[in-house]
Amino acid sequence: MSWYQPHLRMSFDLIERSGITQSDQIVDVGGGASTLVDDLLDCGYHNITILDISSKAIDISKARLGSRANGIHWIVDDVLQAPLEHGGYQLWHDRAVLHFLTNAESRRAYVTQVRNAVAPGGSVVIATFALDGPSKCSGLEVSRYSPEALLAEFGPGFRLIESHSESHRTPPGAVQSFLYCLLSFEGLNSAG
Ligand SMILES: C[S@@+](CC[C@H](N)C(=O)[O-])C[C@H]1O[C@@H](n2cnc3c(N)ncnc32)[C@H](O)[C@@H]1O
Repeated sequence: MSWYQPHLRMSFDLIERSGITQSDQIVDVGGGASTLVDDLLDCGYHNITILDISSKAIDISKARLGSRANGIHWIVDDVLQAPLEHGGYQLWHDRAVLHFLTNAESRRAYVTQVRNAVAPGGSVVIATFALDGPSKCSGLEVSRYSPEALLAEFGPGFRLIESHSESHRTPPGAVQSFLYCLLSFEGLNSAG
């Protein structure tokens, strides 16, 4: 739970700055227990998919949202293999999932999913541990990123719009360095 934030303020600000409309389709990967969905609903976004490998995490949000949960599309699945609609999303959000993918094959599968699911002209907001962030989280090895390394991970077709660092204070009081990037997806045929 070291990554826990009561509100994903930086993610939310980048989503707002991506230029999506309130009707656009948003997918929050690993968003199970996160309150980002509450803040998106409060601001009028209403086409929201939450994908998480953990049904327990999703149940926490369903319980918190009450009847508002009925308007959310919930998917319990692994992001690396979930059958997501081709070009179905204008915005992909992930805070603290990608950095757990420490082998190249998993990262390639992740990027393939993003390329398939995000509509050309859509946006991707990713939050990972920064280069000076922790090398382990919840006992697991993590990958750490600079903005350039993150862009390189996504490859051709993506453009870096903005990046920000955040010193995240964990519930026990330690500080973790996060990197937030807003990327645009130009499309499969773009040379990037
Ligand atoms: C570190 S937590 C971050 C939660 C939230 N995004 C936040 O920033 O507060 C990671 C979440 O991703 C989920 N997760 C981990 N691996 C996943 C995968 N391969 N596919 C989908 N969800 C995954 C976990 O169940 C957990 O809810």
